Amino acid sequence: MKVTPEELQRLARFVHDKCGIVLDSSKAYLVESRLLPLLREKNFTSFGDLYNQAVRNPELANRIIDAISTNETSFFRDQRPFELLKFKIFPDVLDAISRSGAGGKSVSIWSAACSTGQEVYTIAVTLHELLGGSITQYRIKITGTDISDTAIMQSSRGLYSQFEIGRGFPQNLLKKYFMPDGLSWRVKDELRAITFFRKINLMEPFGTMGKFDIIFCRNVAIYFSLPNRKSLFERIAAQLNPHGALIIGSTESLFGVTDRFVRREYHNSVFYSLK
Ligand SMILES: C[S@@+](CC[C@H](N)C(=O)[O-])C[C@H]1O[C@@H](n2cnc3c(N)ncnc32)[C@H](O)[C@@H]1O
Repeated sequence: MKVTPEELQRLARFVHDKCGIVLDSSKAYLVESRLLPLLREKNFTSFGDLYNQAVRNPELANRIIDAISTNETSFFRDQRPFELLKFKIFPDVLDAISRSGAGGKSVSIWSAACSTGQEVYTIAVTLHELLGGSITQYRIKITGTDISDTAIMQSSRGLYSQFEIGRGFPQNLLKKYFMPDGLSWRVKDELRAITFFRKINLMEPFGTMGKFDIIFCRNVAIYFSLPNRKSLFERIAAQLNPHGALIIGSTESLFGVTDRFVRREYHNSVFYSLK
């Protein structure tokens, strides 16, 4: 079944208003392939029918956002941000916190748009590997958020297939941080103890999120319009502690988006701090 230009326009406006994702007229194929299973499941006869129901049915609207958003992720995706975290950002943040004398040894990290949780657990493993047994001396909290209910559910469950594990998780660390569960792998309690998940739409005010020392916001803003990207990173700036660091995707840049941040480099890896 094909989506008509009018249906595409209405669905694109709907998706944009709900979550900021931009679907232009070249995305007809994406809309068809991702929404057709939902259309069939619900016995709708056209994409217009799906739209008409979704505007008055929040659960259906969520299903549309879930289907349209790209959840692509993997453990240790792009490697470098985690080296950066381990050798530069985390030590710098600890220094700044101990110099300020405030906050004791609390470190707050946010993975915004964490998809199915691999980024969050990668951060947790990286810090465990860095600190070893002394990790218990710190109050580390890694919060993963995403707009997708199913992604947040999988993240909280912490259960990954062999295929998901095979995409980036180091074999030599597997049994240290995961235990077998049937044909899958379940994260161990030491990772669970420092990881938290909740649903957050990055297009909406952050409300009670609090402040963070380190924020990862990777591979989501690329789907947003420039004004929405600007608004997002300016609101993220407000959530970052003065000594904090922001890591964005390896193909992303804040140039021309906002001047609230200073671009910094460490061994060819890029991160941002507040101006
Ligand atoms: C490509 S994944 C990126 C995952 C991870 N950060 C990484 O780099 O591997 C993009 C994620 O952004 C989420 N997303 C899209 N729009 C969003 C919004 N408005 N608020 C929060 N999350 C959103 C999607 O559900 C998806 O899980």
